[in-house]
Amino acid sequence: MQRTNVLIVGQRTKNQQRKDRYIDEKEVIEKKHPSKQIPELYSKLIEIYSAEGDTVLDPFNGIGTTTVEAIELGRNALGIEISPKFVDVANQNMFMAQKRLMERQEEIPNWHLWCDDAEWRLEDLIESGEEVDLIAFSDPWPQDAPQSAKYTDYINDMGNMRGREFEKKFISISKLMYRILKYRGYLAWSGLGCRVPGKGYMYPLIPMYIEIMENAGFEWYQHIIALIGYMHYNRDTGEVEYRPRTTNPFEFHNQEEAWKKGERYLMFQHEDVLIFKKR
Ligand SMILES: C[S@@+](CC[C@H](N)C(=O)[O-])C[C@H]1O[C@@H](n2cnc3c(N)ncnc32)[C@H](O)[C@@H]1O
Repeated sequence: MQRTNVLIVGQRTKNQQRKDRYIDEKEVIEKKHPSKQIPELYSKLIEIYSAEGDTVLDPFNGIGTTTVEAIELGRNALGIEISPKFVDVANQNMFMAQKRLMERQEEIPNWHLWCDDAEWRLEDLIESGEEVDLIAFSDPWPQDAPQSAKYTDYINDMGNMRGREFEKKFISISKLMYRILKYRGYLAWSGLGCRVPGKGYMYPLIPMYIEIMENAGFEWYQHIIALIGYMHYNRDTGEVEYRPRTTNPFEFHNQEEAWKKGERYLMFQHEDVLIFKKR
């Protein structure tokens, strides 16, 4: 039976968390990565679901948030990412993290990043006998989901796939993830919900991920609500308030539009994290 937990990861904005810890992508690529993760979310997930010396894998590594936070916590890190530009940024972020470890005179864990399709590279890694203790990632949304991002023009970029084609690819990757994960290892998936435009209700991505993971053999272990707003102590009332902060500009826009029409609409103030366990 899965349990629900809450993590607080938005006391500082995503930009504040990244400042001086990650390179400013604007300086090396023409367009910033559209959906990088919240460092404190990944740091907390890695801390909770793995131990020092373990190996953490992100098959959709983007500009390297998971792998940076993993080596910072003394975990070995493996990352796969289809875009050479993002792999280049991720490598630079890893070197920055490595420098911090050297300054702190800490041992540098092993790490490796591949520029490849997650499905193909996972097959090769399994073939070569690789095993990991934790898989943590946020994958691209399918093209037909609202707010899906454009990453590359490659046909095997999952962000360019729709409906059944996306599902088939993800099913195949989920089976490979199951195989590369050690017995009793964890898999953490995170995603910011999205709504069907003009309707207000949630696009049913989360049930799809749960079904695919369970069919691959995973046990759905926990549901985490990662709060991206922040707690504020209000001196006037003496109360602690949860204040909105969203990294998603669509949400501000949608809320304004809905309120103008007198509709009830609340912004997302959390990311969903699904934790699965290999049985
Ligand atoms: C939500 S982003 C991950 C962001 C990452 N966690 C970070 O913080 O930088 C999803 C990533 O998956 C990559 N991607 C898309 N299709 C892929 C595939 N078939 N194999 C590997 N990576 C892929 C995209 O280029 C994108 O960078």
